Amino acid sequence: MCDDSLIYDSLYADARLRGWSGWGGDARIANGPSGLQRITEKSYVPQSGPALELGCGEGHFCRLLAAYGYTVTGIDISKVAIEWASEKQSGGDNIAYVTGNLCQPDVLKEQIYDLIVDGNCLHCIIENDRMIFLQNVHRLLSDRGIFFVSSLCSKDGKSSIIYRANRAYRHVPSVTSLMDELEEAQFLVLDSEVRERNEYNHISLFAKKMHSPSSYETLRDKAAQRRLAR
Ligand SMILES: C[S@@+](CC[C@H](N)C(=O)[O-])C[C@H]1O[C@@H](n2cnc3c(N)ncnc32)[C@H](O)[C@@H]1O
Repeated sequence: MCDDSLIYDSLYADARLRGWSGWGGDARIANGPSGLQRITEKSYVPQSGPALELGCGEGHFCRLLAAYGYTVTGIDISKVAIEWASEKQSGGDNIAYVTGNLCQPDVLKEQIYDLIVDGNCLHCIIENDRMIFLQNVHRLLSDRGIFFVSSLCSKDGKSSIIYRANRAYRHVPSVTSLMDELEEAQFLVLDSEVRERNEYNHISLFAKKMHSPSSYETLRDKAAQRRLAR
């Protein structure tokens, strides 16, 4: 199981030193409201209830979700990020912040959420940890719940790993392999959109839990066959 907390701690400490308002700088953080609108405008997305952000960083998206009316939990592996988020919290925010590793099988224990937002965290998760991460999301999502994924994806149909300081840092899936992973983890993708970017593309998608065990088994077998055929 990965433990990249120290890497993320140092990246957040660096962001604070630079005077940024969050991960990746101010321009990125300013996109939050349009991101929230893209999620909440979907009719199948529950408009209130418990919501969870995966990899919440300093919490800007949690604050937007809370202002919209959700009861929010933000989880991040970085203590520095969670301390920053807690400092930014005002008394009126309906947000609980948790330091935790989403690759740990029992993370957040028995909690259930109607909306789970991937805060650009899934593409930080490498190899076998990805299935543990997705199984955690499946366990934590309510039957009527929606899982929103925001991830890098490849331009050439091949999956790859980006390294930083000799460590695997980002998993860039092909769109097909991401869809396969989601099927294997018992998610049904409702909608997806790929945005063209320079080096890597970006995919956002909405998924819900598959309910029929037989359809799950069929899809899981199909996904396994596709992987063998590649
Ligand atoms: C690309 S950053 C995005 C942060 C924030 N959601 C945003 O969009 O500004 C990904 C976040 O995921 C967190 N993260 C990475 N691996 C994690 C893990 N295994 N468990 C929990 N959080 C993790 C990192 O600390 C980081 O805050």
